[in-house]
Amino acid sequence: MPPHRLTNADLVAELASQGVETSDHWIVERTGIRARHFAANGVFSSDLGLEASRNALVAAGVAAEDIDLIIVATSTPDMVFPSTAAILQHKLGIAGCPVFDVQAVCSGFVYALTVADAMIQTGSASKALVVGAEVFSRILDFKDRTTCVLFGDGAGAVVLEASRTPGILASDLHADGKHVGILCVPGHVSGGQILGDPLLKMDGQAVFKLAVGVLEDAARAVLAKAGKTEADIDWLVPHQANIRIMRSTAKKLALPMSKVVVTVDQHGNTSAASIPLALDSAVRSGQIKKGETVMLEGVGGGFTWGAVLLNF
Ligand code: UT7
Repeated sequence: MPPHRLTNADLVAELASQGVETSDHWIVERTGIRARHFAANGVFSSDLGLEASRNALVAAGVAAEDIDLIIVATSTPDMVFPSTAAILQHKLGIAGCPVFDVQAVCSGFVYALTVADAMIQTGSASKALVVGAEVFSRILDFKDRTTCVLFGDGAGAVVLEASRTPGILASDLHADGKHVGILCVPGHVSGGQILGDPLLKMDGQAVFKLAVGVLEDAARAVLAKAGKTEADIDWLVPHQANIRIMRSTAKKLALPMSKVVVTVDQHGNTSAASIPLALDSAVRSGQIKKGETVMLEGVGGGFTWGAVLLNF
């Protein structure tokens, strides 16, 4: 997380000074969010991704030089091109391995993990660095209280290695592009200008309704693919957008909330970074232990959604 932390009270005061009215009570009651972090000016997704990558490499006991694939999931890249993954590769001081970004918004990390797993299984890579990194504060409209209180910045990373014992047991990815308009940043660069609105737009209720349905479907599908049942899940690490969506998913899967990793209260919604940040928090705090079965679930703009079941 970038160091600058804003509690709801900090954000409410800042917004009030610009004539935008909201409250800690509304934010907590509707979302479960209590704080978020914002990157300082000049800090990009690759910078946050670099810190997360270094920590992941240390945790895995892997040298940066041994990484032979980098995938960065982000919707807030440093530049239009090249990829944030290329920039990150250079910042890590390595060269030569394939690198690219995955753009699946808040489902980005489960998409990226699935692609890395497939490349490892086909022998195209053996040690992959998979990163979710975002600076969503850059695309927020701070005059729109329905969205600007929800998001934050951050990055998380994992190292995925080839092994005879499968870590990733199954993946299930989906998208339906007819819902593009319910969650988007519609602006684009053209002829040296930004055309259209470059700030985040969301129909919160439409996203909420879709999210609750598809997260249940993806969870059941990935369990079926792996030959497992809900009872086999030790931990659910869902996309951290809204505590109410997480509660609803847990209820549908008959999982107690004690098995659901929740960091949305401290991070807000960090899009593609939210799952690896939550995973990192649960691993480092000793919640998730070696050998446990973990389900990761993402949902977001596109509309995209998916789940990964893994043996930690
Ligand atoms: O990461 C991708 C996935 N994204 C998501 O999963 C987000 C999904 N959606 C949600 O989490 C929820 O829909 C929100 C948290 C965005 C909104 O919660 P809601 O319960 O659906 O609220 P609402 O949009 O129905 O708004 C209720 C009221 C409205 O006032 P009226 O029309 O009832 O008078 C809003 O104008 O709350 C008002 N409101 C606010 N009030 C104070 C909306 N935003 C705020 C705010 N502070 N920040």
